[in-house]
Amino acid sequence: MYNILTPQAFVFMPTALAIVTSLFILFYISFTSNFHQTHLTFTHFSSFNSTSQKQVISLLGSTQSGGNGNIQSQRHMELNGKYVNDNEVFHDRDSFMDNYKEMNRSLKIYVYPHQKGDPFSNVLLAVDFEPGGNYASESYFKKVLVVSHFITKDPSNADLFFLPFSIARLRHDPRVGINGIKDFIKSYIFNISHEYPYWNRTNGADHFYVACHSIGRFAMEKVIDVKINAIQVVCSSGYFVSAYIPHKDASLPQIWPRPGGDPNLAPYKRKKLGFFAGSLNSPVRDKLLEWWGNDSDIFVHFGRLESSYAEELVDSKFCLHVKGYEVNTARIADALFYGCVPVIIANHYDLPFADVLDWKHFSIIIATLDIPLLKKILQGITQQEYLVLQSNVLKVRKHLQWHVSPVDFDAFYMVMYELWLRRSSLRLQ
Ligand SMILES: *[C@@H]1O[C@H](CO)[C@@H](O)[C@H](O)[C@H]1NC(C)=O
Ligand SMILES: *[C@@H]1O[C@H](CO)[C@@H](O)[C@H](O)[C@H]1NC(C)=O
Ligand SMILES: *[C@@H]1O[C@H](CO)[C@@H](O)[C@H](O)[C@H]1NC(C)=O
Ligand SMILES: *[C@@H]1O[C@H](CO)[C@@H](O)[C@H](O)[C@H]1NC(C)=O
Ligand SMILES: *[C@@H]1O[C@H](CO)[C@@H](O)[C@H](O)[C@H]1NC(C)=O
Repeated sequence: MYNILTPQAFVFMPTALAIVTSLFILFYISFTSNFHQTHLTFTHFSSFNSTSQKQVISLLGSTQSGGNGNIQSQRHMELNGKYVNDNEVFHDRDSFMDNYKEMNRSLKIYVYPHQKGDPFSNVLLAVDFEPGGNYASESYFKKVLVVSHFITKDPSNADLFFLPFSIARLRHDPRVGINGIKDFIKSYIFNISHEYPYWNRTNGADHFYVACHSIGRFAMEKVIDVKINAIQVVCSSGYFVSAYIPHKDASLPQIWPRPGGDPNLAPYKRKKLGFFAGSLNSPVRDKLLEWWGNDSDIFVHFGRLESSYAEELVDSKFCLHVKGYEVNTARIADALFYGCVPVIIANHYDLPFADVLDWKHFSIIIATLDIPLLKKILQGITQQEYLVLQSNVLKVRKHLQWHVSPVDFDAFYMVMYELWLRRSSLRLQ
């Protein structure tokens, strides 16, 4: 995927765009099954308008690597289930694997050092407990990073510099609080840029921070260089979120660690067609309630859930992720964890690891405008097609899980890979 983003590739963009558009139209006409129609229509036309360039590139990638140029038969093979393997959840598995090994071997991170006695050690050092809850991703990442083999004590060896402040912990620190975060960040950047030479060399372009709480996106407002130069690894990664710059920044998956072992992941015996539970805090959710609030196949629940959330997810074929205040919630990772195919209704969400994983093979992406068609779309997916999607869910779920001792290809390694793709040595080439 990354290899394809060369300057030469962009020369062909207008032609490629025309060809691909015609191909889409051909697909649309030639396929009779509902699945193709909904898939192509909803993922490529209705939603994610602003990512079309990315999708064109990935499509070109798959036709080129497919070699036979006959996309039509390629898709049939996939959907017949005969040729399905691990490959299809990636845009380009081989190039990912090669780059991953190189990343794992050579990526080096320098973390600005802080001592236990530092008055803000609670914010700057890794937590000494196992992170949990809605914003665990932020704490998990730092906790795993600082004891990993990616750390270097020698800044001249570093590809990237980590700004270790925790937005979630600043928010709860009575000395700072929500209103003090901007000043804290300003003071922090002032201090490191005076005490060390590294920030000034690039104005922060080889620096990164990690935040899961959405308040993080207002936190950098007093240091514009962080927003425009540094790599922001954040959960609230929307294409229309001011301050989030796709390709420079990266989407951090929001993962609420679920206790206990693996749930029952079987695709069968899932009685509900669709499931959603949450609070009614956005126009998109209002619309979901309006259309599906009383439906007997799609179970939409607002307010406190009487039944067990885990059992509901295990009992459903499709689990809805619906934009609330922000595009992100922990529901996608929950769906994957419980073996449920995610249905993503959050326009312009820069999905986690989207430059590696091909989300259309293990999720259904539906534009907000199409909420009235939700049931038709889900019912249009045949059992055979569902089994393919669900088996792909089982293949990708490991990428959206944290471990205190990281496991290859888990959320920690995937975030490291995203950083590797964005390291400044590459950007400055
Ligand atoms: C999609 O993008 C095009 C070109 O940028 C724009 O003209 C059009 O209004 C967009 N459509 C939607 C639905 O956002
Ligand atoms: C990544 O590095 C770790 C630590 O050196 C090692 O245990 C692991 O096997 C490596 N994984 C791959 C795929 O190279
Ligand atoms: C920056 O340094 C000053 C002076 O040492 C200190 O008072 C302040 O707390 C530091 N700011 C941060 C965010 O650590
Ligand atoms: C970095 O730049 C700032 C602003 O120009 C300057 O005040 C500071 O001394 C520089 N830091 C170092 C370590 O030279
Ligand atoms: C659901 O049904 C109840 C009872 O018929 C009705 O009062 C309510 O307005 C309906 N809600 C929606 C969202 O259609």
